Amino acid sequence: MYKILLKQDLVPNIHLFKIEAPAVAKKAQPGQFVVIRIDEKGERIPLTVADWDKAEGSVTVVCMEVGTTTRRLATLSTGDSIADFVGPLGIPTHIEKFGTVCCVAGGFAVAVVMPIARALREKGNKVISILGARNKDLLFWEDELRSVSDQLIITTDDGSYARKGLVTEPLKELVESGEKVDRVIAIGPSIMMKFCAKTTEPFGVKTIVSLNPIMVDGTGMCGCCRVSVGGATRFTCVDGPDFDGHQVDWDLLFARQRTYLEEEKRSLEQWQHQCGDYS
Ligand SMILES: Cc1cc2nc3c(=O)[nH]c(=O)nc-3n(C[C@H](O)[C@H](O)[C@H](O)COP(=O)(O)OP(=O)(O)OC[C@H]3O[C@@H](n4cnc5c(N)ncnc54)[C@H](O)[C@@H]3O)c2cc1C
Ligand code: FES
Repeated sequence: MYKILLKQDLVPNIHLFKIEAPAVAKKAQPGQFVVIRIDEKGERIPLTVADWDKAEGSVTVVCMEVGTTTRRLATLSTGDSIADFVGPLGIPTHIEKFGTVCCVAGGFAVAVVMPIARALREKGNKVISILGARNKDLLFWEDELRSVSDQLIITTDDGSYARKGLVTEPLKELVESGEKVDRVIAIGPSIMMKFCAKTTEPFGVKTIVSLNPIMVDGTGMCGCCRVSVGGATRFTCVDGPDFDGHQVDWDLLFARQRTYLEEEKRSLEQWQHQCGDYS
């Protein structure tokens, strides 16, 4: 069992879990993920490592509630345990001195971007971060991201905080501005990543996205996480999760993400019925 050393509610539907997992902490690198299972009957879900502490033997993940497993996880507290915490999985994000890198984070993905931005900065890159959320109440880790960025731009869809609009607007202005941007790393909801890639494509700025298809084993065996990149079939769990956003077949990704929508809906209704939660 893997003990929850700390559970913290970052915003109402996004939670931080610091898990005791020394073997994972020893090897974790930016951009990698773990596959967790709450108990032996639970579904496996992937979550990206947001932070790790080798000395303490802990790994931090940040989870947004969307369906049965993420909502079940949200009911756990500091001191509880989960059955499985497997990783680190996937290929780490490619970090080197590129020059100027723009890191775009949407929603919960600020937690995913944090270790990447930090590692890029440590390599001597100029890091310009763009952080977007639907509204002020869903924003977190603004100060943390600012501390690893040379510049931070914040957007909210509804204008309730900072600049009103989508992350693609300051991204477009940046690539149009004449400032040499050597790479963009965009992580968040698939639709956001698609439009970040579409924004940079005409300017020829390499844009890395972290894909989030359905996964089961996370080790290249089941084929669930199949995506098409540059016309070739790739398995996100072993060939990614980072890919060139200009090469991703986004329509295929969206279609495959919807495969089990009915089952996911039924599963959530069943769980809510069992625990009397009709929210
Ligand atoms: C490599 C990888 C890393 C990931 N890292 C993180 C992370 O660090 N933090 C985190 O919160 N999530 C992360 N995810 C997504 C997370 O794994 C899913 O949200 C989770 O599996 C959903 O399980 P569920 O049972 O709660 O919901 P399901 O019943 O599987 O899905 C419920 C509903 O949510 C939708 N949904 C599924 N996945 C997502 C998603 N990613 N975003 C928005 N809606 C979705 C489904 O289409 C469905 O409508 C990652 C996914 C991948 C592939
Ligand atoms: S999750 Fe099974 S092959 Fe990638």
